[in-house]
Amino acid sequence: MARDPNIEMTLTEADDEKFEQWLRPTRFEDFVGQDSIKDNLRVMVQSAKIRKAPLDHILLCGPPGLGKTSMAHILAHEMGVKVHTTSGPALEKKGDLAGILSALEQGDILFIDECHRMNAIVEENLYPAMEDFYFDIVIGDGPHARSMKLALPPFTLVGATTRSGLLSAPLRDRYGYVARLDYYNVEQLTHVIKRSARILDIGITDKGASEIARRSRGTPRISNRLLNRVRDYAIVGNHTSIDDDLADYALMRLEVDHAGFDYLDRLYLDALVIKFGGGPTGLDTLASSIGEEKDTIEEVVEPYLLQLGFIQRTPRGRVATANAFRHLNQPLPGSQGSLV
Ligand SMILES: Nc1ncnc2c1ncn2[C@@H]1O[C@H](COP(=O)(O)OP(=O)(O)OP(=O)(O)O)[C@@H](O)[C@H]1O
Ligand SMILES: [Mg+2]
Repeated sequence: MARDPNIEMTLTEADDEKFEQWLRPTRFEDFVGQDSIKDNLRVMVQSAKIRKAPLDHILLCGPPGLGKTSMAHILAHEMGVKVHTTSGPALEKKGDLAGILSALEQGDILFIDECHRMNAIVEENLYPAMEDFYFDIVIGDGPHARSMKLALPPFTLVGATTRSGLLSAPLRDRYGYVARLDYYNVEQLTHVIKRSARILDIGITDKGASEIARRSRGTPRISNRLLNRVRDYAIVGNHTSIDDDLADYALMRLEVDHAGFDYLDRLYLDALVIKFGGGPTGLDTLASSIGEEKDTIEEVVEPYLLQLGFIQRTPRGRVATANAFRHLNQPLPGSQGSLV
């Protein structure tokens, strides 16, 4: 019977999601790296516990897969409260917000993922809830409509965003603490991978873990995903432990190159460097030339390339740096064919 690629895709995604839940750190001790953020949050948690008050509202910013959702759950766990999860796009109407707010109990955490994508009406109604713990409801309509304030138990809003620049200033200002999560270094990711391998009960050498770490785009989610795929190769090849040779072999087969670039990163770099001669090229042009959503490019592909110094965002468009030309073995424009 012919295999349906869509079904396969769904199974893999569901599997990855289950796997992600399984490996998610639940205590500060298990959350690798981001030390100064962790220190600040620990102090906030301790102080809130001493004051017997809820945590102040917290905004977690950073590219996908760096641990924002994990941190929201850690905060709930450390405070001993429940976490109620929603997202900016899921709160379509004021009533959706009212529904989730009215389910909160004293000290609970309301986690709003993608909080830069809330609509203006919902957002405006969130302000008094955040500041003074009340929600305006309107009873009846027409000339008899009355506005009432619904008191809410003091709670903590934890917002997460991959695009802090798109957050409105009034919303940003209402958070008591803004944490900007950074990409992880190889040593930290090696730590993440060794912890995950222990949970998954698969052996891994230090070199095997650092080989996967180097190719994880600075992102723990990718480390775990690559470990899961390399583990498949280990199981099928009857290896009890993952070493650097096996990791390298599996990652090459999975088309993850030595810099950790995957298919989409290479497509983007090829377009910018080769097709458009290094730019400047507008985001719209780049997106349509590789057939990818602008949002994915801005939120997933570009932040890591910016961090590595492979591209620059300029007012005239995206520009490839000498690093990008070098990575693709292309001569720099104006260098008369010599490789730099
Ligand atoms: N600091 C960390 N230490 C250990 N594991 C981590 C860390 N950060 C993330 N992870 C792992 O990476 C996975 C993805 O993290 P998480 O879902 O928290 O990222 P996110 O920032 O919420 O991503 P998105 O923006 O896509 O929602 C988690 O399941 C967890 O296993
Ligand atoms: Mg998340």
